[in-house]
Amino acid sequence: MKDIYILAIETSCDETAAAVVKNGREVLSNIISSQIEIHQKYGGVVPEIASRKHIENINIIIDRALKESNKTFDDIDAIGVTYGPGLVGALLVGINSAKGLAFSLKKPLIGVHHIEGHISANYISHKDLKPPFISLIVSGGHTHLVRVEDYGKYKILGRTRDDAAGEAFDKIARSLELGYPGGPIIDEISKKGNKKAVDFPRAYLEENSYDFSFSGLKSAVLNYINNNKQKGIEISIPDLAASFQEAVVEVLVEKTIKAAKVYNFDKIVLAGGVASNTRLRELFYERLGSKKLYFPDKILCTDNAAMIGSSAYYKFLNNEFSDYKLNAVPNLELTSNI
Ligand code: KG4
Ligand code: ZN
Repeated sequence: MKDIYILAIETSCDETAAAVVKNGREVLSNIISSQIEIHQKYGGVVPEIASRKHIENINIIIDRALKESNKTFDDIDAIGVTYGPGLVGALLVGINSAKGLAFSLKKPLIGVHHIEGHISANYISHKDLKPPFISLIVSGGHTHLVRVEDYGKYKILGRTRDDAAGEAFDKIARSLELGYPGGPIIDEISKKGNKKAVDFPRAYLEENSYDFSFSGLKSAVLNYINNNKQKGIEISIPDLAASFQEAVVEVLVEKTIKAAKVYNFDKIVLAGGVASNTRLRELFYERLGSKKLYFPDKILCTDNAAMIGSSAYYKFLNNEFSDYKLNAVPNLELTSNI
């Protein structure tokens, strides 16, 4: 079969990214321009600034991705682009660039769901990984537990009812004035702390539910900080961070392993920014039993375009193309399609 080359674009949040991916698995280039430093001083992503920076960067990033891949526009078989979920203004920059390229080059356009992209990052890091598997997607905006039956075929088992896992990390880090994004900082600080220092609540919700909830935990941590402040008791930040992190990851690990057992799947696949959390991976390994654990290389855990290229490849094989009406869908849900 002929090799398929996808030029992929991702601008859903604060990374301007473009990549060229061969046959869904081989990354020929993966250029990521992060705006983190710009947003850091505001303690989070400022949508207006993100869109403006995407506009400034997008053409340069696409050119670099193509150049580094040693391919030309002629070699490209299709243009893949994230169309949601994400920030509307940010998404539109990527979508409009992709449409412009597809139109002028007369190549097919493929809209990709950002969360599908995160799952597909694993196909790049693990060349032999194939569905079916249970996937836990944990990022700044999403927490999903999904049964992946085939490429692009999903059954959603559970999702967060309030904050996403990464969002919880970011909010707690912000209230401790540790900086943004909070996940990697809490991950690092926790290594010096005692995870059993504070017994924070674990929200398992109803029996048999695969949903998550982190707002109760967030309130418990904030109350703990305020109570101690009022009493003039000094808090150990490493102990607090480690105890909070443990409460998050324990619920994630328990529910994911339970789903793998109940549905009799032997593979567990992590995706999204929080998938690079050290303690999350460690606890999975402690409790995994005979199940196998997969997670993407660190650079593919957070937002990138290579993962979008991988996802677009499987849509290409299924003839799932988009037309020029493709629009940004900020609240695009990942829905069950089996
Ligand atoms: O997937 P991602 O880059 O963007 C979204 O699609 O949301 O995820 C970013 C999120 C942030 O909330 C960040 O704090 C979190 O992933 N994150 C981590 C770690 N690295 C990134 N959370 C916990 N531990 C980490 N090591
Ligand atoms: Zn993401």
